[in-house]
Amino acid sequence: MTTLGLVFFHCLVLFSGIYYSSAADTLTPTQSIRNGSTLVSSSKIFELGFFSPGESKNQYLAIWYKKFPDIVVWIANRENPVKDSHAIHTISSTGNLVIFDGENNIFWSSNSSRATKSPVFAQLLDSGNFVVRDNDTKSYLWESFDFPSDTQLPGMKMGRNFKTGINRFLTAWKDVYDPSPGDFTYRIDNIGLPQLFLRQGMKKRFRTGPWNGIRFSGVPLQNTTVLNYVFVDTTEELYINYAVKDNSLISRFMLTESGLLQRLVLYGNSGEWTVMYSVQNDLCDDYAQCGPNGICRINKRPICECLTGFLPRLPHEWEVLNWTGGCARRTPLDCQKGEGFVKLENVKLPDLLEFKFNKNLNLKECRAECFKNCSCTAYANSDISNGGSGCLMWFGNLIDIREYIQGQSKQDIYIRMPASELSDSSWKSKNIVIIVVTSTISGLLAFFLACWYRILKKKRKKIGKQTHPKLLLLK
Ligand SMILES: *[C@@H]1O[C@H](CO)[C@@H](O)[C@H](O)[C@H]1NC(C)=O
Ligand SMILES: *[C@@H]1O[C@H](CO)[C@@H](O)[C@H](O)[C@H]1NC(C)=O
Ligand SMILES: *[C@@H]1O[C@H](CO)[C@@H](O)[C@H](O)[C@H]1NC(C)=O
Ligand SMILES: *[C@@H]1O[C@H](CO)[C@@H](O)[C@H](O)[C@H]1NC(C)=O
Ligand SMILES: *[C@@H]1O[C@H](CO)[C@@H](O)[C@H](O)[C@H]1NC(C)=O
Ligand SMILES: *[C@@H]1O[C@H](CO)[C@@H](O)[C@H](O)[C@H]1NC(C)=O
Repeated sequence: MTTLGLVFFHCLVLFSGIYYSSAADTLTPTQSIRNGSTLVSSSKIFELGFFSPGESKNQYLAIWYKKFPDIVVWIANRENPVKDSHAIHTISSTGNLVIFDGENNIFWSSNSSRATKSPVFAQLLDSGNFVVRDNDTKSYLWESFDFPSDTQLPGMKMGRNFKTGINRFLTAWKDVYDPSPGDFTYRIDNIGLPQLFLRQGMKKRFRTGPWNGIRFSGVPLQNTTVLNYVFVDTTEELYINYAVKDNSLISRFMLTESGLLQRLVLYGNSGEWTVMYSVQNDLCDDYAQCGPNGICRINKRPICECLTGFLPRLPHEWEVLNWTGGCARRTPLDCQKGEGFVKLENVKLPDLLEFKFNKNLNLKECRAECFKNCSCTAYANSDISNGGSGCLMWFGNLIDIREYIQGQSKQDIYIRMPASELSDSSWKSKNIVIIVVTSTISGLLAFFLACWYRILKKKRKKIGKQTHPKLLLLK
């Protein structure tokens, strides 16, 4: 069915009034969904049925907003559409959801692993979750929230369940009219510390920075007046989730086919979705924008600088604002006496590529540990809550550092410097002191000269108009 067809169909049922009274939210093993029939959640928020994007004849079993049939939030068979018009969806007596065509070829199956002997049924909930339930216990045997498409609805966990092995993440559509899995994915990685990555294929495009006990080090995760966010990291589960506080607000979070992470909202009866924010906010959010050992500051021009003690590796490229080459040390580390660290305040921590993580060390012990190993290039507290704890150490280049401007809780990092750079920076600060002193002296001098001049001027007034003040000054 085309989108137009769907809209027409919806208008038809809206005016006939028969559909609402007969539309059910459950599917039992004796029933099926086919040829335009759908399930509708009990408060008529979501609808499940077959849809065909654009001009395509491909049939996908999907969930969309009842009021917005062209906003599809979940698809079962996105990799394997039914090509004829006889797509059928059923539930087996053992609780498996199945899609097949007019010739009984199976196109998709939910492969529910939890077997049950009790009667089963599938139900479309008002949350947009499509669940398979055991009729005796009413517990879920399978749920669509465990297999996200490109959209995270409120209450839908993004992340892992270590017990079941399920990893829920977003995969963008290939293009606006092709819901098959595209290149972009957004998921939580848990290498050392949890952080979210947007990837295009294997390539990293954006990351939130590691979780630092309060937020991901590069993005805020703050409750607002309309939304609550949760981050859960236990031995059983690791996920982020959100809830909408305001009943008049509908919200969804999606990964667009062009790789944008957007929070969309719809107020009351406005009928129009608006973008509340995009997670990728500015150029500094592009992964490794400033190359290795560079730092991105969005309020500076140019936005990229080398870290203290580093110089552009490819100066000519750097001059024309091609920062991909990044920066290299002005003076190599030699692990000789006098090496130390410079503090860089309020940053998104570098990516965890070559690193060590020890949550039992404090900052002082972390410094000592980093100091011991000549290839340790930086360290930081891994958790900044309650005054800071834990130890992260980096080895090799520092990738994708940006200044974090939201303020509030500061995430600092300490970068290793050879003795010469450290004495150079103290020389620089001495120099600044000298400049301040000199300028204070010259300021005082100017003040005395001005006083003297005024005194002379008064004198001159007394002497008479014919005398030139300059001559007086020269006397
Ligand atoms: C579905 O509709 C098509 C065309 O309207 C019809 O040819 C087909 O027999 C129907 N399939 C079923 C299973 O009712
Ligand atoms: C179900 O299992 C079959 C066979 O193991 C597999 O080919 C198919 O991709 C699975 N379907 C889903 C939705 O995981
Ligand atoms: C579920 O069980 C109830 C009785 O507890 C029964 O009335 C109902 O028909 C059953 N529904 C399904 C879908 O099996
Ligand atoms: C947001 O509020 C909820 C409910 O009060 C709370 O559980 C959660 O921890 C808060 N999230 C953050 C990130 O502070
Ligand atoms: C930037 O510099 C790198 C390294 O020399 C080069 O490979 C790349 O093509 C340059 N990018 C652009 C857009 O010129
Ligand atoms: C320093 O750390 C690196 C990276 O973890 C490790 O490979 C190396 O063995 C360490 N060197 C010493 C002397 O401990």
